[in-house]
Amino acid sequence: MIIRLCQHNFHIFDFLIFSAALTILIYILLPHRFALNYDYIKKERMEEALLAITTPNISSQQAIDCSYKETIADSKFVYDAFHREKILRGEEIRLGGEYQPEECRARYSTAIIVPYRDRQEQLAAFLNYMHNYLRLQQIHYRIFVVEQSDRKPFNRAMLFNIGAKVASSYGYPCLILHDVDLMPLNSGQLYACTTLPRHMSSALDNWRFHLPYRTLFGGVVAISTSQFKMINGMSNLYHGWGGEDDDLYERLHVLSIEICRFAPAYSEYTMLKHKQETPNKNRMALLRSASLRMHTDGLNSLVYKEVERKMHSLFTLILVET
Ligand SMILES: *[C@@H]1O[C@H](CO)[C@@H](O)[C@H](O)[C@H]1NC(C)=O
Repeated sequence: MIIRLCQHNFHIFDFLIFSAALTILIYILLPHRFALNYDYIKKERMEEALLAITTPNISSQQAIDCSYKETIADSKFVYDAFHREKILRGEEIRLGGEYQPEECRARYSTAIIVPYRDRQEQLAAFLNYMHNYLRLQQIHYRIFVVEQSDRKPFNRAMLFNIGAKVASSYGYPCLILHDVDLMPLNSGQLYACTTLPRHMSSALDNWRFHLPYRTLFGGVVAISTSQFKMINGMSNLYHGWGGEDDDLYERLHVLSIEICRFAPAYSEYTMLKHKQETPNKNRMALLRSASLRMHTDGLNSLVYKEVERKMHSLFTLILVET
């Protein structure tokens, strides 16, 4: 009797082990399984969700408007050697990293803002690929790299505020806040703003294309310049890694501005490898006071020194002391 019982238990135990192993196997073999479900804008709705605004000087030089239907409909994997390894038709890009299509009038003007320090190789890879990628989309854009020159802990959010201020002074109505180590994989993730702020990098290869939590609003986000001003930009107080993107989400939440995402197949990004940044130990405490601080900590309390502004062939450099 006792022996039988033991044997019986043993079978159940075996079965549990087997199920666990099977689950792990599926998890490894099928990276898209077990993804967190979230609301997203389907392909058919993407174009109408976009905000059609440009800088004032994208004028009537061209008779016909660019069409974006095909870019969205034919979204395909373009993170290949052809687009990565060298800059194609470099002469099309204006000094300062600006581009506008010649054949038609762009419907969207976008400032891509990249906070930066000490990652030369990544920046080179980023600029190369992004210029090839973005020109496929026939938008008007310019890449601003905001570099922190001092040795204080990296202040990503403050660099975004600085970039936003400069981009706004050039008339850009749409900001894409972009980490230098993230590259979009598919051509259909249009680098234009949506009426609601959009989380663009919701399917990251590093996280097996999962969204870890629904309110995640970091990596690559698109927000109109007017909405960014409405929330007083981002906090200037996050020194070191982490928290500032949750703070940004909180600011939107306080003003009941919802966020949106495109379908996962459009939101796939790859992350370049790098060393872990030093986490900011203070980030949880700061985050708890996010809504209290938002009206006094941000664009209206931004203090920095611009050391240099330089037009490079692929980007505008804004070198600052924080
Ligand atoms: C538009 O004007 C801005 C600011 O004067 C200038 O930097 C930019 O090169 C112009 N862009 C185009 C496409 O004409």
